[in-house]
Amino acid sequence: MSLYALGDLHLHFQSELKSRAQMKDRVWKNHEEKFVKNCGKLIGPDDVLVLVGDHSWGRNFGECEKDFEYIAALPGKKILTRGNHDMFWDAKRTAALNERFGGKFFLLQSNYAAYGDYALVGTKGFTFEGPFYLDGRGRIAGWDEKAEKHAEKLVEREAERLMEGLEKARAAGYRKYIIFLHYPPTNILEKDSAFTKIAEEYRAEQVVYAHCHGESRFYDSIMGEKNGVIYRLVSGDFLRWMPEKIL
Ligand SMILES: [Fe+2]
Ligand SMILES: [Fe+2]
Repeated sequence: MSLYALGDLHLHFQSELKSRAQMKDRVWKNHEEKFVKNCGKLIGPDDVLVLVGDHSWGRNFGECEKDFEYIAALPGKKILTRGNHDMFWDAKRTAALNERFGGKFFLLQSNYAAYGDYALVGTKGFTFEGPFYLDGRGRIAGWDEKAEKHAEKLVEREAERLMEGLEKARAAGYRKYIIFLHYPPTNILEKDSAFTKIAEEYRAEQVVYAHCHGESRFYDSIMGEKNGVIYRLVSGDFLRWMPEKIL
């Protein structure tokens, strides 16, 4: 049994929407086929594949149906976290959605999924992404403080959702945790955040995140070990559509 992850599939089998990168950048050419091929090589029926948000460009269920079918047909057990583009996923209806998608995939938020003696927990997360103001040498000289205040509220709500999952796992006897976020755990300043603090407090072994895609964004947040936690970026174009082995 192995655990794999990748994020930001941005499927659009039924939606006309696409990002500019998806139209121009070679890495996105037939990315759906590349990913299926790579999953086929790596992932067996007992393995678990966590898709770390931004699954579909569809704006509602109807526009996501084919994207859901694509995900359900991938090998292994599929677990999804919520991305900022996942309009089909009303955060307050996660339990109801899990009933609807039962047997196809599992939505990870305010709950946990067992993986051996590990509990997998996750939420969308959030980070303040600017605007940052640069000086003449390109160094950060300041940022939009009003936008930062707004971001703090969203971070608080997402941190609560993450804690809810961790507490449920802890109450069920789990002591080993892997955290999945869609947003990076910190912004480009890479200071501690609610999410890095939670990861350290619960001694999570790893924090896996996506959202940073396009080459200029890959190094926006922490990668590698920090204060005993391993941070990994798994956005699809960064991994060139090869799922990353987490455990
Ligand atoms: Fe994305
Ligand atoms: Fe995103």
